[in-house]
Amino acid sequence: MGNHPLKSTLPQEIGLEKWVNQVAELTQPDQIVWCDGSAAEYQALSQKLVDRGTFIPLNPAKRPESFLARTDPADVARVEERTFICSAQQIDAGPTNNWMAPDEMKDLLLPLFAGAMRGRTMYVIPFSMGPVNSPLARFGVQITDSEYVVVNMHLMTRVDVAVFEQIRSGANWVATMHSVGAPNDNSVWPSNPEKYISHFPDTLEVWSFGSGYGGNALLGKKCMSLRIGSVLARREGWLAEHMLIMRMISPEGKKFHFSAAFPSACGKTNLAMLQPSIPGWKVETLGDDIAWIAQAPSGKLRAINPENGFFGVAPGTSVKTNPVAMELVAKQTIFTNVALTADGDVWWEGMSKEVPDGLTNWRGEPHDKNSGKPAAHPNGRFTSPARNCPTISSDWDDPEGVELDAIIFGGRRAKDVPLVTEASSWQHGVFLGATMASEQTAAAEGPVGEVRRDPFAMLPFTGYNMADYWRHWLSFAEREGVQLPKIFRVNWFLKNDEGQFVWPGFSENARVLRWIAERLDGKVEANETAIGNLPNLADLGVDELGLDDASKQQLLAWNKDAVVKDLESIQRYLGAFGERTPAELKIEAESRLASLSPMWEQS
Ligand code: PEP
Ligand code: MN
Ligand code: NA
Repeated sequence: MGNHPLKSTLPQEIGLEKWVNQVAELTQPDQIVWCDGSAAEYQALSQKLVDRGTFIPLNPAKRPESFLARTDPADVARVEERTFICSAQQIDAGPTNNWMAPDEMKDLLLPLFAGAMRGRTMYVIPFSMGPVNSPLARFGVQITDSEYVVVNMHLMTRVDVAVFEQIRSGANWVATMHSVGAPNDNSVWPSNPEKYISHFPDTLEVWSFGSGYGGNALLGKKCMSLRIGSVLARREGWLAEHMLIMRMISPEGKKFHFSAAFPSACGKTNLAMLQPSIPGWKVETLGDDIAWIAQAPSGKLRAINPENGFFGVAPGTSVKTNPVAMELVAKQTIFTNVALTADGDVWWEGMSKEVPDGLTNWRGEPHDKNSGKPAAHPNGRFTSPARNCPTISSDWDDPEGVELDAIIFGGRRAKDVPLVTEASSWQHGVFLGATMASEQTAAAEGPVGEVRRDPFAMLPFTGYNMADYWRHWLSFAEREGVQLPKIFRVNWFLKNDEGQFVWPGFSENARVLRWIAERLDGKVEANETAIGNLPNLADLGVDELGLDDASKQQLLAWNKDAVVKDLESIQRYLGAFGERTPAELKIEAESRLASLSPMWEQS
């Protein structure tokens, strides 16, 4: 396929129709459907999925207008090992991404895509990430042979024919193409053991092959909004981030806007939908996964949520951990890989203490309570429209977005990272983001529990060189007239020596957010330390929580030896990025280490 047109011509140059025809010629679908995003389209495709057995309609008395899908057991999560950034130069993807040269990847994928849509329908989905009329929005088109993908895209993005019109009249767009890679396969979950999630940042293309699962297949989400988005953001001077957006309102009615980055499955959705335990404070939700952030004329950074729905992890969600999400998923929701109850509803681990009798597990087998295996897959998901979220802000889709007051970084760490730390400067904040580490979760393949560095929670999502990404963040401090948000780091996941969590979390996390708001307002003091500014315990209101002294102690404790060790490990980590590592970050590590080293050890 040396000179295949999909290799030698740009979709954006030849135009939509020609590109679609080229893809159809290659993939050989039975028919082509141009999607319109209508409710009728959603209905018809859902019915098609029901007829094929991919969708199990849930009991309408329990869960109106909702479905359960079960994937192939080998297609349950994002496949980071099969995800590639195909920039012209390897260094522009490295060292954190898998890389292959664009032509080499296309040579590899063209034969896989050849005939891949035989016996299937090819859908052409026009979508906008962000409100169509937002200055921050970006347009995309996804070609797919999966009805599951089309209906999920309906919920997660703005599928809108206006996007076709805008593209035809010259608007920029990202061309994304997806096939489950299973021609003539009428099984419930067609997919291919061979998977490639390939990004071409230089030509604004995504080619995804072999998987039907969320982050691998809903290409507006991680692929376009983060991997390609981060490249666009750097080029155009904004930020594409793996962050929730929330509004916290004080008893006096003052509004604070926070964005927060946590690795996958560390509670972004729970935090975005927080129900504060503290009287008078309220939280409104603007987004739970992705934030696009740009400097506004006022100098402040403004953020939009480019998505239109929530693709959340179901297990662990309950009326205790996230009552808002439980209401969100009460109707019009697509569930994937959770358990089915005897009366046609869904269930997952954590929803209730009691495991109901008569469950069918996520594989479609009768659930054996004594098997020790979960009934729902740990990465089982719900897809729900944002408008159904009880705490969604009335202006959540304001095309101008909201002004950010603070940016919060978090991870899952059993020890050595206090409950909350305020960065002492923008540079220190970027340092905290760049050196974030977290225990790995089930959201991606890999050993659960292992601590890995996950800078800005963007390790799997930055579409270019990570050190250049840090430099881009640092560059915001040099912008004309910029009024930067303050940066904080939080850790809800501290554990004592018995392995129990010392912080109650969930609704009590509001105490930490209140402290952040009061810092922004200059209402509370902080203690400057070598690791950043720490609160006075009393200002967190922990006395109301009935914690034992040891737990209280641990919340803000930091161990000098552990911090020194961590800084040394950070120095090695930063060193691995070579010349591209920004000097500012090395200086942060060096100066903090120096301030902790006894005089006699300094040369
Ligand atoms: C996904 O896995 O499909 C996804 C949307 O991402 P995350 O792992 O961040 O939840
Ligand atoms: Mn995510
Ligand atoms: Na995932």
